[in-house]
Amino acid sequence: MTTKTAAITAVGGYVPEHVLTNADIEQMVDTSDEWIVSRTGIRERRILKPTSLGTSFMAIKAVQNLLDKKNLDPTQIDLIIVATATPDMPVSSTASYVATEIGATNAFAYDLQGACSGFLFGMSTAAAYISSGRYKKVLLIGADTMSSIIDYSDRATCVIFGDGAGAVLFEPNDEGLGLQDEVLRVDGKGRAYLKIEAGGSMLPPSKETVSKKQHFLHQEGRPVFKFAISNMSDAITQVITRNDLSKDDIDFVVAHQANKRILDAISNHLDLKSDQMLINIERYGNTTAATLPLLLWDYEHLLKKNQKLLFTAFGGGFTWGASYLTWAYNS
Ligand code: COA
Repeated sequence: MTTKTAAITAVGGYVPEHVLTNADIEQMVDTSDEWIVSRTGIRERRILKPTSLGTSFMAIKAVQNLLDKKNLDPTQIDLIIVATATPDMPVSSTASYVATEIGATNAFAYDLQGACSGFLFGMSTAAAYISSGRYKKVLLIGADTMSSIIDYSDRATCVIFGDGAGAVLFEPNDEGLGLQDEVLRVDGKGRAYLKIEAGGSMLPPSKETVSKKQHFLHQEGRPVFKFAISNMSDAITQVITRNDLSKDDIDFVVAHQANKRILDAISNHLDLKSDQMLINIERYGNTTAATLPLLLWDYEHLLKKNQKLLFTAFGGGFTWGASYLTWAYNS
């Protein structure tokens, strides 16, 4: 086995057609477009209809978009990882279904649960399989149907989240391009602040859990907000320092889209120019594991070979981190 770098060589994405605007949400809960825009930066989000299509529906669409753009035969894919907090069902994996539906008959597949950091953690996993020489084509998908776990009478969460999916292909690179370094962390105490209480082994589904709305996502926004800024900033600083980078070396920061104010705080912390931070939260809200690949999908036209990208994410768990990746192709 040889050691090579693992590069992203293709990007695909999909967001559902149905748009849920701030004006729509004003009809559902006590909120206002002004509050949502000023406190989160979100103007609209996409919602999968019907929800029963499942996360695999969006993941498959994102992969088909990637396969078409890359003109890739799915039988060449070795492994498919689906980062998601909203799998089609607890058992079996969404990834297995996606693999079969796209015709990846020579692949194995599994789900990865890292909440909003799922895609970032998946980049580490995908790259490790490639750089070890074990596999040549690893498809990493970030996909979440957040509308399936949101209580649309809870104004603290329903304004934030949306549905979507993005996919990237990792392949070996001979020029040293691709994933260079990462700092990935967790703090299990954080689950007190961001969780779905019921439906797992600790609290299986029952009439009571349904009536108490314990199958919906519960978030204590303020502590999550604080930890998100300090932990993402800390992870980015570690990656920058140990790779001898200066802020001007960074072409783009690809950061989890949870709240525009969090992105502004990180930008201030790093003293970034406004065009270094990629942003699309105003159109999609927080799509959990899909935010990072959807940024790549939206901004692929700006990305050029050899550019330096910093990825960062923070989410339930708590989970967080930062990765440094050099871009491998001109689109
Ligand atoms: N519309 C109007 N008012 C709202 C509201 C809404 N949608 N949601 C909350 N409020 C109210 C609260 O009830 C509170 O009112 P009070 O002061 O009378 O009690 C006030 O606004 C401030 O609430 P707070 O929760 O402190 O707001 P905030 O400025 O922290 O914004 C979040 C709330 C959720 C947008 C913000 O905390 C956040 O983005 N948190 C982090 C989310 C995140 O990063 N997740 C990452 C993992 S997925």
